[in-house]
Amino acid sequence: MAEPNPNPAQSSKRSIERIFVSRLQHGWLKAMGIDVPWIAANEPQAVKPQPKVADTQASMPAAEHAPTRAVSPPPSRPVIAPAAKPLEQVTELDVSTLDLAQVAQSISACQRCGLCHARQQAVPGQGVDKPTILIVGEAPGEQEDLQGKPFVGRSGELLQNMLKAIGHDRDTSVFITNVVKCRPPANRNPRDEEILACAPYLNRQIELLAPKVVLAMGRFAAHALLDTDAPLQALRGSPHMLALAGKQLPVIVTYHPAYLLRRPVDKRLAWEDLKQVRALAAI
Ligand code: URA
Repeated sequence: MAEPNPNPAQSSKRSIERIFVSRLQHGWLKAMGIDVPWIAANEPQAVKPQPKVADTQASMPAAEHAPTRAVSPPPSRPVIAPAAKPLEQVTELDVSTLDLAQVAQSISACQRCGLCHARQQAVPGQGVDKPTILIVGEAPGEQEDLQGKPFVGRSGELLQNMLKAIGHDRDTSVFITNVVKCRPPANRNPRDEEILACAPYLNRQIELLAPKVVLAMGRFAAHALLDTDAPLQALRGSPHMLALAGKQLPVIVTYHPAYLLRRPVDKRLAWEDLKQVRALAAI
């Protein structure tokens, strides 16, 4: 008898080599620009019923260093956001007793960094409270800041297509949040002190949500979650294990949807990452 594989991530990798997708999923993949001959439409695929929603970036080498998100036109009246606190002034924050709704309330009232001065509203996250997949993006953009929900612009549309391609949906099996919960002015990159100020919220969310797998989208998410500054390209390809509250969670790193909108050719690489997410989500 074959030895059981001690590394579930590796065994799951093997089990996803051959893929059958439904016509619908095939359509989503085509819409994402992925139309490869070995993906067969119309083969049966079990889709588990899922619980209901509770509302509450490889490169183009320069892509690792350039801003990864769409830059919107400057506002007619410039918003001057005070500089964020120096790193050493970011105080500790105890959120260990808060539930998910309380974490969201605390984020909405948060003034731990300068981003609170320019935001319309904070964007704590959205999704089911026992998600199979936790998506972690970078920071809210203009639309997210206005609507208070993550990934509602063009990146959000692509993200939903990506999720559908692996049999998931942001309304039924996913929770989506960002490393930084408030919009950086003019969609600039989040600063280290802003990421640090927000980290207790993200950690508590991960602990409470306890997803089967975390998908880190873009280098800011990957770096914050994995505490590294390795290039995104080097972080893709195999699961990383995140130790949090005595548990180990697999983290898959992939490109940010905004990057994929600029470099559609890399959707094929993202598809490889998504297949790993699907396999880990099915364990
Ligand atoms: N980009 C992100 O990283 N997060 C959002 O919520 C929207 C766009």
